[in-house]
Amino acid sequence: MGITLLSLLGFFLLSLLYRGQAQDAVLTIEPNWTTLFSGESVTFKCDITGGKGSNWSYSILQDGGAFLPNHKHEKYKLHSLTPGYSGAYQCFFHQKNSTKESNQIYLNVLERPQPVLTVSPSWPSPGASVTLNCRVDHPSAGWSFYWYKAVPQLSGNSYSFELLAGSENGTEQDLFIIDGQTHTAGYVCRAGRGDPVFYSWYSKPKFVWSGDINSAASLTVSPDSVQHFTKTPVSLSCEGNSTEWRVRMFSKPDYLYHCSSWGTMTGSTCTITRGWLSGVFWCESETGQFSNAVNITMECEF
Ligand SMILES: *[C@@H]1O[C@H](CO)[C@@H](O)[C@H](O)[C@H]1NC(C)=O
Ligand SMILES: *[C@@H]1O[C@H](CO)[C@@H](O)[C@H](O)[C@H]1NC(C)=O
Ligand SMILES: *[C@@H]1O[C@H](CO)[C@@H](O)[C@H](O)[C@H]1NC(C)=O
Ligand SMILES: *[C@@H]1O[C@H](CO)[C@@H](O)[C@H](O)[C@H]1NC(C)=O
Ligand SMILES: *[C@@H]1O[C@H](CO)[C@@H](O)[C@H](O)[C@H]1NC(C)=O
Ligand SMILES: *[C@@H]1O[C@H](CO)[C@@H](O)[C@H](O)[C@H]1NC(C)=O
Repeated sequence: MGITLLSLLGFFLLSLLYRGQAQDAVLTIEPNWTTLFSGESVTFKCDITGGKGSNWSYSILQDGGAFLPNHKHEKYKLHSLTPGYSGAYQCFFHQKNSTKESNQIYLNVLERPQPVLTVSPSWPSPGASVTLNCRVDHPSAGWSFYWYKAVPQLSGNSYSFELLAGSENGTEQDLFIIDGQTHTAGYVCRAGRGDPVFYSWYSKPKFVWSGDINSAASLTVSPDSVQHFTKTPVSLSCEGNSTEWRVRMFSKPDYLYHCSSWGTMTGSTCTITRGWLSGVFWCESETGQFSNAVNITMECEF
């Protein structure tokens, strides 16, 4: 019994010794992530297990080819990674007349990810809670999630993003709950990790809609019906205390249009002159107001 234990211990010590001799240069990376993204940085460090003299240097090879020759500093920081940096890295530590070979580290560098945001439910009853979910491909340890409100930018037909209270430092969970949603609103998320924070792209904006016509802004459809035929022009009028509006439409599976895609905007009224559309329509202003949302189906009249 005792002998077995002793010989096991002996074997363990021997194998440690053996490993120490066979491979005593050590390559490490910081942060130690198996997957990295375009734009992130990584720091290589090559060292030996024993003490080192004053005249040393190391070389790093990528997939066996020259990458960093005779480097004389403790660390080497590689900024702004791109997928081309993916590969197997190994270092050779030189001192006096000896060269020690290190372990291999495989770096996998992917394109900067774009998360996908989902909102649920899409049509909350007034005052209900809405759950936002931010999904990133290649989930990895180390992501935090940042949540934003979409604010319409009329020039350029885009949105600017305003950080939601409570997500200043990111949230650990990929879920965010909005309590008491009362009106139409747009949301966006992104993921971030590291220090300084490296951010993913922003997700596409996603919307929750309210049919409540007592919103701060309102959308009026004329003629007043949910089903329309393309022979009769349909007008969508925005009202509220903003002077400038745009009309947006969301159509399944995931398309976002503005009035000029199927009509013309005159003042705060969009007149639909063409198209065979169906989707959710609403008005939005640069002051961040959103109207009630309306389902409309337009069909060709035969
Ligand atoms: C790096 O991470 C891998 C796997 O997560 C782990 O096995 C290894 O010990 C880590 N190395 C360092 C230097 O932290
Ligand atoms: C340090 O090593 C390099 C080659 O490894 C040699 O050319 C150089 O003379 C050495 N310098 C000193 C101060 O020993
Ligand atoms: C090279 O290293 C060996 C032992 O590692 C030593 O015996 C030899 O003297 C060294 N040669 C020179 C030129 O430093
Ligand atoms: C965010 O981090 C800063 C500094 O670490 C801290 O002062 C602040 O309270 C944090 N905010 C939130 C909402 O946790
Ligand atoms: C619009 O249609 C959805 C189902 O597609 C429904 O849940 C929602 O209540 C409708 N909204 C209005 C204002 O009719
Ligand atoms: C617009 O409405 C908000 C509240 O609904 C109010 O605080 C603001 O003063 C109004 N602005 C104008 C220009 O009337």
